[in-house]
Amino acid sequence: MPSAPLNVLILGSGGREHALLKACLRSPRVASVRVAPGNGGMALEAECLPVDASDPAAVVALARRVGADLVIVGPEGPLAAGVVDALEDAGILAYGPRAAGARLEASKAFCKDFLLRHRIPTAAAATFTSVAPALERVRAGRFPVVLKASGLAAGKGVVIARDLAEAEAALRDMLEAKVFGASGDEVLVEEFMEGEEASIMLVVCRDQYLMLPASQDHKRVGEGDTGPNTGGMGAYAPAGVVTPEVEARVRREIVEPTLAGLAADGIDYRGTLYVGIMVTPEGPKVVEFNVRFGDPECQVLLPLVDGDPVELFESVARGAYRSSQMGVRPGAAIIVILAAHGYPATVRTGDPVGLPASLPEGVDLVHGGTKRLPDGSLVTSGGRVMGVVARGATLAEAARRAYAAVPTVRIPGSHHRRDIGARQLRRDGAA
Ligand code: AMP
Ligand code: GLY
Repeated sequence: MPSAPLNVLILGSGGREHALLKACLRSPRVASVRVAPGNGGMALEAECLPVDASDPAAVVALARRVGADLVIVGPEGPLAAGVVDALEDAGILAYGPRAAGARLEASKAFCKDFLLRHRIPTAAAATFTSVAPALERVRAGRFPVVLKASGLAAGKGVVIARDLAEAEAALRDMLEAKVFGASGDEVLVEEFMEGEEASIMLVVCRDQYLMLPASQDHKRVGEGDTGPNTGGMGAYAPAGVVTPEVEARVRREIVEPTLAGLAADGIDYRGTLYVGIMVTPEGPKVVEFNVRFGDPECQVLLPLVDGDPVELFESVARGAYRSSQMGVRPGAAIIVILAAHGYPATVRTGDPVGLPASLPEGVDLVHGGTKRLPDGSLVTSGGRVMGVVARGATLAEAARRAYAAVPTVRIPGSHHRRDIGARQLRRDGAA
């Protein structure tokens, strides 16, 4: 690997990208790091530059202007828009799949077709563009039934319908009222899978990969998994529902056929592959693929990489990563999200954010929705304002550390879940 240190540019503005920034700031491979567009918390640590991250030409121009050697792309939008294609064509290293690979997330219809063609375990499904034939399929099947807008819908395009009336309402919303715009031009009618969900993130370099510890996100706003869905109120890793046996099946039945399928389809996949699985009584099945790190899962996974994540991303971007090159560290990590007043409904912004003068051992803060005012003070600017991340030898230790630090961050009206990781703590016999 060439030894000249890198000028890195990170694209994105959430907690995931702040975690990536922290990894860059700690990395001996990095000469300088900038973020576009970034947020208030990131601006405390690095230069943040305005950009439309989903405009490939604008990203290439910015990367050239700041002399970036490596661009790390956080969210799916820019990947689906072909930002990595444009950067690579301009001779700039980029971490993340090209647009052809990003379709695994950008089109659920494409993804389902890919899974079925390559005989990868997943729920049976069919794709429809109008209500009547979709309803016919619903009537022929069982309830609950899962209805999915095919395109990107910021995690909101999935409805689990308990009866025909709910299914019809959802189909009309998606296909006729276009509540998800063009993302609902195609709708999947999918069999409901019973089981426990987990996420498995891989750093993929064609047929080589690093599998990060399995994680679990907490999507509902309320404790005990109640209330509306959110972008994620917390996460932890490793998730014990993915036992060594399940992990072995995931590698053999899901990961290896997926990487072989991508190659067979002529897709040069280099970047994160997020495999959402359901651990069903018949074994692990794919719920979805995402083509980037989860947010907030990224914040708990980077600290568990045994080595320098930047070196990992660089070698993947160069197409040079080998499966044996890096591993994961023992221990556990957790993130508790402090959400703004009103989240996930009407989010109040502009509340002052008070940060502690210092943080205890093993604890870090990642900003997801903060803004820096001209006077240098920080205020809330989004739903998931802050994440308190902690590592520990065990999840119980990590959770104790994180929850002890939560009250030291002062955000008026904010709320958080007190039960992040509870499922695993029960499994561990620690709660
Ligand atoms: P997706 O955007 O495809 O991940 O769907 C969002 C969420 O809906 C998933 O995280 C699951 O909790 C749930 N879900 C999606 N598809 C299914 C399915 N076939 N069976 C059960 N739950 C599902
Ligand atoms: N935390 C779920 C996601 O990033 O899609």
